[in-house]
Amino acid sequence: MKNRLYIQEVATRDGFQIESSFVPTEAKIALIDKLSHTGLAKIEVTSFTSPKAIANLRDAEEVMRGIQRVKGVEYTALVPNVKGCERALSCAVDEINLVMSASDTHGMANLRMTPEQSLLQFKEIVEVTRGSSVFVNASLSTTFGCPFEGAVAEARIFQLVQKLLDIGVQGVTLCDTTGMADPAQVERLCTTVLERWPETVFTLHFHNTRGMGLANVLAAMSAGVERFDASLGGLGGCPYAPGASGNICTEDLVHMLQRMGLQTGVDLDRLLAVASTLSALVGHEVPGAILRAGKADRRYSRPMSQTVNG
Ligand code: COA
Ligand code: ZN
Repeated sequence: MKNRLYIQEVATRDGFQIESSFVPTEAKIALIDKLSHTGLAKIEVTSFTSPKAIANLRDAEEVMRGIQRVKGVEYTALVPNVKGCERALSCAVDEINLVMSASDTHGMANLRMTPEQSLLQFKEIVEVTRGSSVFVNASLSTTFGCPFEGAVAEARIFQLVQKLLDIGVQGVTLCDTTGMADPAQVERLCTTVLERWPETVFTLHFHNTRGMGLANVLAAMSAGVERFDASLGGLGGCPYAPGASGNICTEDLVHMLQRMGLQTGVDLDRLLAVASTLSALVGHEVPGAILRAGKADRRYSRPMSQTVNG
């Protein structure tokens, strides 16, 4: 297992995209500015998608340009196509996080593109970014299963990873879009990709839809993965994947890793303070556990009967 883990926050992208109401632009900016001071390695600020597809993130330029960037934090944005890439570059993002699906049906539902069509867009995007300092990552949705098609063959995942790297993509995120992954599957797949592509930066992106999220993190860690996406409060989900629900919760993840004596660079108390403001922003309770339960070192006063009798 690794000693240092990298935690990448996705609440203002994966989280806000599926909310029933629009989070005001100023509130998004204020939230990101607070998150920037918690020690997170990376923040996925927004997505440069079609405002018709993802109306909640229609203010992507304003948000990206409005935040105060903090040195040491990387600021990324999700991009589905060439037009999205141009918009992201105009805001000087540190990283472009390309998104495609591993399955045809989810690809068509979410992006109106098959995986092969997405790859054609990405090829153009890598050409456009060549020579610039922007890092190009690609997120592979439905890696661990598709809500329409079921299992996606591992051979297909390896083929798509290879195609992405052949194009010139520098990092790959393996996404469990609707929480179908189990720890044995995660460990097997992660072990293979890390052995096969040791130079590539891999990130794991889990949703906790079936309660396996943190178990999947441990399985990926035991295979050697050190980067994880997570969402404040456990918000999140793809609006075009039926049954989608929240990502693994950032503060729950950091709390677990800290309990285990592992370094994340994240200040958990600061993160919890930011997380406590989230339900007012989205207008409902959030799924995160630590916000409700408190950290494991929380103590309650003894029952009266015991204090009276000593
Ligand atoms: N940003 C803004 N507008 C965009 C855009 C982008 N990245 N890409 C396309 N558009 C606009 C086009 O300019 C065009 O506008 P017009 O109707 O005014 O001429 C319109 O959208 C249709 O363009 P087209 O290329 O045919 O796109 P599409 O309708 O097939 O949609 C995507 C394809 C990928 C843009 C859209 O499905 C999308 O944004 N999906 C994102 C889904 C997502 O983020 N899911 C959650 C994350 S997993
Ligand atoms: Zn997601």
